[in-house]
Amino acid sequence: MAVKLCHFSDIHLTAKPMGWSARDVVGKRATGWFNLTALGRGSRFRHAPSVVDVLRRDLATRGYDHLVFSGDATMLGFESEMKLAANALGVGDATLPPCIAVPGNHDVYIGRAEKKRLFEASFASWQQGQRVGDSYYPFAQKVGHVWLIALNSSRANFWPWDASGRVGEPQLARLRELTATLDPGPRIVVSHYPIMMPSRRPEPRYHRLRDWKRVKDVAVECGVSLWLHGHKHGWYVLPTDAELPFATICVGSTTQARRWGYHEYTIDGGKLAALRRVYDLAAGAFVDADRFELELKG
Ligand SMILES: [Fe+2]
Repeated sequence: MAVKLCHFSDIHLTAKPMGWSARDVVGKRATGWFNLTALGRGSRFRHAPSVVDVLRRDLATRGYDHLVFSGDATMLGFESEMKLAANALGVGDATLPPCIAVPGNHDVYIGRAEKKRLFEASFASWQQGQRVGDSYYPFAQKVGHVWLIALNSSRANFWPWDASGRVGEPQLARLRELTATLDPGPRIVVSHYPIMMPSRRPEPRYHRLRDWKRVKDVAVECGVSLWLHGHKHGWYVLPTDAELPFATICVGSTTQARRWGYHEYTIDGGKLAALRRVYDLAAGAFVDADRFELELKG
């Protein structure tokens, strides 16, 4: 039987922080806050709260078997932002379909957000699944005949200009171990970072998945047939070729003005049919836009 998924990403909700610590004032968050407010970069997301309200209605009413969220719920990884985003998206709302979620780099913007596992605390009910021992990532969820595998590629970086990610060898070893226990069915990785840009080159050094080549090779060994991600705010699809043995889909940002959208995937056997729905500001609704198809290998 076919399964119907909804994929959304890069929500970037922001909330007034509940008190800055001394380290925030002199640290990376101050730079981030300055970018958002004084330089006006946050204005691209000024409609995000109302877009998320509309998204949530669609999540509840369009007959999805499962939801997929590929990260960046927040702007600066504040606890207040995390709670706001989880609440707005309906995490824990039993009337929504189950979901698989991974953090984006903005959700672990500083080391403390990562260490205190703020994303995992707020999105816990979207992070249930099969794991290797006590390790949090990766984890797998089965939807019909399809395996969704959450792989964390986001990490806290010291410098404000460093937005790079890394999966790391320990997690890749667990990915091997986890996938060896899964019964047959398409294996779809859900992660924040892309493997490649639309040009099929890696992203610039300070924005890329640092171990992208290694991750790609291990994913191939593990029988991965599709990589779902965000991070880049414009959407694109990379079908397989000699350099990329599995397809990748970037859903882009669901809430950034004029780029806003999400994807619906219907997977029947190894065939994936996708519908992109984009936000119509005047109508205050998502409407049908592009369609594409992919064959999932393996
Ligand atoms: Fe990101």
